[in-house]
Amino acid sequence: MGGVVEVKQRIEQLRSLLNYHNHRYYVLDSPEISDEEYDELMRELSQLESEHPELITSDSPTQRIGAPPAEEFGVVEHPEPLLSLANVFSYEDLAAWHRRASNLLGGSDFDLVCEPKIDGLAVALTYIDGLLVTGATRGDGYRGENITQNLKTVRSIPLSVSGKKAPPKFEVRGEVYIPKEGFRKLNEERAREGLPLFANPRNAAAGSVRQLDSSITAKRPLDIFVYGLGPVEGKAVPDTHWEIMQYLKSLGFKVNPEITLCRTIDEAEEYHQKWVEGRESWPYEADGMVVKVNSIAFQGELGAVAHEPRWAIAYKFPAVQGTTRLIDIGINVGRTGSLNPYAILEPVRVGGVVISSAALHNEEDIHRKDIRIGDTVIVQRAGEVIPEIVSPVVSKRTGKEKVFHMPSHCPVCGAEVIKPEDEAMHRCTNSACPSQALEKIKHFVSRGAMDIDGVGEKLCQTLFEQGLVKDVADLYYLKDKKEQLLGLEKMADKSVSNALDSIDASRDRPLARVIFALGILHVGEEYAELLAENFLSVDELSKASQEQLLSLPSIGPKIADSIVTFFRQKGNKRVIKKLRKAGVKLGKEKVEEAKPEELPLAGLEFVITGKLKSSARSEAEARIKALGGKASSDVTKKTSYVVVGADPGSKVAKAGKLGVKRINEAEFMELLTQSSKAK
Ligand code: IVH
Repeated sequence: MGGVVEVKQRIEQLRSLLNYHNHRYYVLDSPEISDEEYDELMRELSQLESEHPELITSDSPTQRIGAPPAEEFGVVEHPEPLLSLANVFSYEDLAAWHRRASNLLGGSDFDLVCEPKIDGLAVALTYIDGLLVTGATRGDGYRGENITQNLKTVRSIPLSVSGKKAPPKFEVRGEVYIPKEGFRKLNEERAREGLPLFANPRNAAAGSVRQLDSSITAKRPLDIFVYGLGPVEGKAVPDTHWEIMQYLKSLGFKVNPEITLCRTIDEAEEYHQKWVEGRESWPYEADGMVVKVNSIAFQGELGAVAHEPRWAIAYKFPAVQGTTRLIDIGINVGRTGSLNPYAILEPVRVGGVVISSAALHNEEDIHRKDIRIGDTVIVQRAGEVIPEIVSPVVSKRTGKEKVFHMPSHCPVCGAEVIKPEDEAMHRCTNSACPSQALEKIKHFVSRGAMDIDGVGEKLCQTLFEQGLVKDVADLYYLKDKKEQLLGLEKMADKSVSNALDSIDASRDRPLARVIFALGILHVGEEYAELLAENFLSVDELSKASQEQLLSLPSIGPKIADSIVTFFRQKGNKRVIKKLRKAGVKLGKEKVEEAKPEELPLAGLEFVITGKLKSSARSEAEARIKALGGKASSDVTKKTSYVVVGADPGSKVAKAGKLGVKRINEAEFMELLTQSSKAK
C-alpha cells in the first residue's frame, strides 16, 4: 500500500467496517457478511497495524484478543455507588412495594419498566470522548476491580461509540453473563479436560472476567445486556428509563429485547406470569424480573435506603427446586484418573424434567454441605444442565444417614487412591487403569481433539472391551483388523469404512489439537493452543524443561509439572512413538524464515530505559531483534521508541528533547505481542 496517509485511511475504514459488522453480529444478531469475509477484513487490519504499530489505537477491533497477564487488578472507585436490589417473591409484596413508592410520590401515577434479571455480574463501563476507557466490577458497590482488558474481549461491548451522539463522558451499567449454550459447551470442554466444572453460568462468567490473563477471557462465550446509565457529563440524556434504553441501543449497546413498558402493576404481573412460563426458552439464565420506575425524576425523588433503591425491585421467579432422597453416592473415574462422585437420587420432577442423579463435585464439597447418604435433599437445576444438591433437609434425618468417604482404592482397578494436597480431587494412581484408558480414548476422538467422527463413545467402549484398541494409537492400526471390526455387533460394511476413513483423515490435525488430544492433565484446549504456538512439535514439547514452560505466559508450576511428568511416563512415550509410526502428524511445518526487511519491526530502533516488570531487559532486546527491530542504548534522532520502565534514567528527558516517541511497558509489550502475531 502507498503512503502513510492512505494506510491511515484504510485502517480507519477497516475499523469502522469491522465495528459495523461486529455490532450486526454480536448485538443485533443479524450478520450481513460471512465469517470468512469478516476474518479477511480483520487479517488485513492486523497486517496494516503490524506494519504501522504507531497507528494502533486502544479501540481498534484487533485489541479484543487480550493483553499480557496482569499481576492483579487495580481498584476503581465508583463515582456513584452501584446499588443492589431488594427482592419480592409474590404479587402481594410487589403491590406493597408499588403502594409505598406511590405514597412517597404523593399518590402520583407512574409507568414501570420490566426487564429480565440476568444472572451474571454487574459491570460499569466508562466512555470518554466516545472511547471505552474503564470497565469495572461492582465490587462492594463503592469500589470495584479494574477489568478493562478483560471486558474489551467481550464482543458485544462497543470499544467506541459515535462521538457525536454520545455524551463526552458517561458510564453504562450492565450485566455480563454466559448464555446457557455457551455454558454447556464450556463445561463439556472442562469435563473432557479433567478440570473442575463451573456450578452455574454466573460463576463461570465471574471466573472468566476475573482472569488475570485476558486471552483466556477472550475465549469464553461472554455477553452483556446493559440496563442503565451511571454518571453522565456534558450532554442531556432522556428523562425516562425506557427512552434511555432506546438511546443506549442507538449508541450500539446491547439491550435486552424482552424489556417492556408497563402502565400498571397488573400489567407487570402479567409479564411476570408470562416470563415464568417462557424463561426456559430464553438463551440465558434469569432469576427474576426487575421492575423499575420509568421516570428518572421520580427515581431521584424516591432515592435509596441501605444500598437498595426504592425505585426498583427484583420480583423473583419461583426457584426450580425439588426435594428427594439421596439413595447413594456413586463414583466415576475420569480420563485423568479423578474420582468424580455423583448423587444417585430417587427420581423427582423439577421444573418439568425428571432428575435421578446430580453432580457432587468432590469430597470436600460433600462435607461442607454436610450431605449424607440417605438424607432428604433439596435439588436444584443449575445452569439448566447439571442438577445439583443445594442442601440436606436436616430436620428429616432419622439417624441412619451415613457420612460419605472417598474409597482408598479405585473402584475400577483397585489401585491406590491419592489426594494431592493442592487439589480438590482424589485420583487413581494407576495410569493404566481401564477406566482412565477408555476415557482417554473417548477424549482423543472427541470434537475439540482429533475429531474422529466415525468413532463415537459407544464404539470406543466396544473397541476397548474387545481388546481391539488398548490405547489411542491402536486406532490407527485398526485398518489391519477389518475382519474383526466387521464381526462386531451393529458394525456393517459402511460404518466400518466410515470409522476407518475418519481415523485416516485425522492423521494431519493441527498441532494444538494433537497436544490437547493427548490428554495431559490440566492441559485444555486453551493451553494446548498456547503450547502449539511456542513449540514446533510434540517431540520438542516433550523435551521442554520446567523452566522453559514456566517462562510462557499463564503457565504456572502445576501445569508445567503435569506436562513434564506426562512426557516422562513410559506408557505415554510408547503411545507417542506408536502414533508417529502410524503416520500421525505430530508437529507443524517449519515456517519459512521471513527476510529481515519483511519482519514487523524492521526499520525500528528501540531504547529501553529503567526496569521492566515482565522480563529481563536482555530478553526484551532479544525479542525486538527476533522481530526485525534494533535495540540500542543511546537515544538519537534515529530512535523510533524509548521504552520507559520503572525508575528510568535521563534518556526519557533526552527523548523528549529530540521529539522521540515514549511508550510505557504495557504499550511496548502489546507492540511485541501484535508483532509476533503478524510474524
Ligand atoms: S438494575 C439499582 N437491572 O442484579 C439498580 N440489575 O440485585 C440495580 N441485574 O447488581 C441494577 N439484571 O448485577 C438491574 N435488568 C437489570 C438487571 C440487574 C441483573 C443484577 C445487577 C445488580 C443485581 C442487584
